[in-house]
Amino acid sequence: MNKPSLCNTHIYWNENRGGMSKGKILIVYDSETGNTEKMAHAVEAGVKKVDNVDVITKKVVETNLDDLLAADGIIIGSPTYYGLMSAKVKELFDKSVKIHGKLEGKVGAAFTSAGGTATGAETTIFSILEAMLVHGMVIQGRSSNKHYGVACVSAPDEKAIQFCEELGERTAKLTIKMI
Ligand SMILES: Cc1cc2nc3c(=O)[nH]c(=O)nc-3n(C[C@H](O)[C@H](O)[C@H](O)COP(=O)(O)O)c2cc1C
Repeated sequence: MNKPSLCNTHIYWNENRGGMSKGKILIVYDSETGNTEKMAHAVEAGVKKVDNVDVITKKVVETNLDDLLAADGIIIGSPTYYGLMSAKVKELFDKSVKIHGKLEGKVGAAFTSAGGTATGAETTIFSILEAMLVHGMVIQGRSSNKHYGVACVSAPDEKAIQFCEELGERTAKLTIKMI
């Protein structure tokens, strides 16, 4: 199609969108005892509710920089370790200095499983979001409950599973708007 004039920009956008590639969501998680892993699968189920999105879920130790580069949206889950992301998740961020600047504008989100309530879950989410913001990524807050991401105690219960699914769905929808 020829370059659109101002009057047919809207038509151009709609046609172009139809031919665009799908949004790509990468879910990365660390989990020693399976709790964060269960959350990751629920987040994936939420992403899958959104049309025109592909999702890949990977353990953090199996995630490389090309995976990060290929994604339009990156959702990271970590167990709460001393109120922070685990060393394995931090190691991925530290390695990502090699691609610093190239994650700019990608959508980010975070989730965690902790051993208790008010024992470092929110600070863990923030530790992940902070690193994403240093990369220039875009983070969406939530006005009602779970403002910063999803945290649960030990294994996710039914309610936490719903929050994880909602996090995946919401992040996928924002990602589509951004690409
Ligand atoms: C090294 C280590 C540090 C931890 N630090 C915290 C902590 O600061 N606060 C907390 O609530 N739980 C803490 N926990 C408990 C884990 O966050 C919790 O068991 C979580 O559900 C584990 O998730 P996973 O099954 O995905 O490995 C810690 C566990 C370990 C092994």
